[in-house]
Amino acid sequence: MPRVNLVNRIQDNGNVPGHVAIIMDGNGRWAKKRGKPRSSGHKAGVETVKAIVQSAAKVGVEILTLFTFSIENWKRPKAEISAIMKLLYEKTRSELDELKKNNVRLIATGRIDKLSITRRNALRHAIKETARNTGLVLNLALNYGGRTEILEAVKKIAGDVKHGRISPKRIDEELFSSYLYTKGIPDPDLLIRTSGEMRLSNFLLWQTSYTELYVTDVLWPDFSENDFYKAILDYQNRDRRFGELSTK
Ligand code: FPP
Repeated sequence: MPRVNLVNRIQDNGNVPGHVAIIMDGNGRWAKKRGKPRSSGHKAGVETVKAIVQSAAKVGVEILTLFTFSIENWKRPKAEISAIMKLLYEKTRSELDELKKNNVRLIATGRIDKLSITRRNALRHAIKETARNTGLVLNLALNYGGRTEILEAVKKIAGDVKHGRISPKRIDEELFSSYLYTKGIPDPDLLIRTSGEMRLSNFLLWQTSYTELYVTDVLWPDFSENDFYKAILDYQNRDRRFGELSTK
């Protein structure tokens, strides 16, 4: 179906997911299939990022969270880590004007304080420069791990209890959420994972309790605007019950 019809259909349905999170998997396999180095898969993956940011804004998604680099990714070969970091650094600089032009606000979720100073500064600069934008929020999950995030929250809460700043009685879901990296960001409505793997890979463990999951076999560099719209249309046909009985 032509793209414009898909966009119209999504908007006519009305229930556009406010927050879409994506596990962008399959860059390595995409490169291997072509006999190329894994870094060329990541490079191609960045082109998909650009297309999907535009598509998300076009249909009215409010927040797009991309799993860009996990804590576990540090275990990869040094050359691959540098290639991903270099891409990130270059793109946060070269795409800044484009983000501004498109009214996109960049934010990051994860331990960005652990990135090298040059990369951290480039990222912080882009975050600051786009802070007043009112369109799509592009949230890069960077040096992110779900269990680490939960453990850090627990440690902070324990510290606040110990120093009498909060009472254990006050610890509920809302308070716990406010200790996470994602404080203030609503939970994802839809989580898309490319390249067929059926797992969460330590991504947004707390936040995805009631998120609708969508897995496609398409590798991330091949994931097109239409593939993204198909995922949203699929989401729009789901019956989200949050543990209650169906209202449909
Ligand atoms: C997963 O594919 C992908 C990553 C670990 C890195 C994703 C990063 C990018 C696309 C660059 C992002 C850049 C910006 C500016 C947001 P994989 O390597 O695990 O693939 P495989 O499972 O086929 O080996």
